[in-house]
Amino acid sequence: MAHISASVFTSHVPAIGAALDMGKTHEPYWQPLFQGYEYSKQWLKDNTPDVIFLVYNDHATAFSLEMIPTFAIGCADQFTPADEGWGPRPVPMVHGHPALASHIAQSVIQQDFDLTIVNKMDVDHGLTVPLSLMCGQPKEWPCKVIPFAVNVVQYPVPSGMRCFKLGQAIRRAVESFDEPLNVQIWGTGGMSHQLQGARAGLINKEFDAKFMDLLINDPEKAASIPHIDYVREAGSEGIELVMWLIARGAMSDVNGHPAPKLKHRFYHVPASNTAVGHAILENA
Ligand code: DHB
Ligand code: FE
Repeated sequence: MAHISASVFTSHVPAIGAALDMGKTHEPYWQPLFQGYEYSKQWLKDNTPDVIFLVYNDHATAFSLEMIPTFAIGCADQFTPADEGWGPRPVPMVHGHPALASHIAQSVIQQDFDLTIVNKMDVDHGLTVPLSLMCGQPKEWPCKVIPFAVNVVQYPVPSGMRCFKLGQAIRRAVESFDEPLNVQIWGTGGMSHQLQGARAGLINKEFDAKFMDLLINDPEKAASIPHIDYVREAGSEGIELVMWLIARGAMSDVNGHPAPKLKHRFYHVPASNTAVGHAILENA
């Protein structure tokens, strides 16, 4: 049977992708940020899964504001990096895992979560920047990736608790797939940031630190944070953090097993307008 071995949490700031693509990672502004991912790149090399189930949000790239699925699972066998206005990023094509993705869709929908099935989709910085941070600049991504898009762009957005429960359903789905695949689940986006309006530039280090503590040690409590608290405390785009709860909900301690091992934790401000948070948890 397939199993989930670890979860990875990381912000997805588009300027990070641009810094990598333009060779700026050693500049003083960017160096401390990329330094925080050195451990992670080695960890991923040492712990390359068969498949990454990558929870992210589309930024009105693949889904216009004309059609907005709350949860969408990518079942295609490949996904092209999107042109977000400056040409597509020079990163590899993303190869999916249609058999596992379809199985997860079947299982999760039968567990009462309504997923949108996506058979063709370009993937934006929400998905490619986390891959770049964790993998650097390889010719090919090291494994297959199932994109799982969550609407955190247009209200109403799903609650943290719904995301946490969805993660639990995804774990059950993975564990009922009849092939011995090693699957990681990544929760991306966040941390505190607000890109527009009177509070543009908002960063709340206290909220971010508390959220990370709860996410790691008391995820049920993190899941009970109401959506309005993210917006008030972490800014309008801070709501992206609910996606981390999907990955956390898929860890085995939520199902009564021992607590996961914290392999790495990192926080850095600023990257563009955003606080960058990152953690790696391994199932015990
Ligand atoms: C920025 C951050 C994001 O999460 C995003 O999707 C777009 C821009 C920023 O900080 O510039
Ligand atoms: Fe974003």
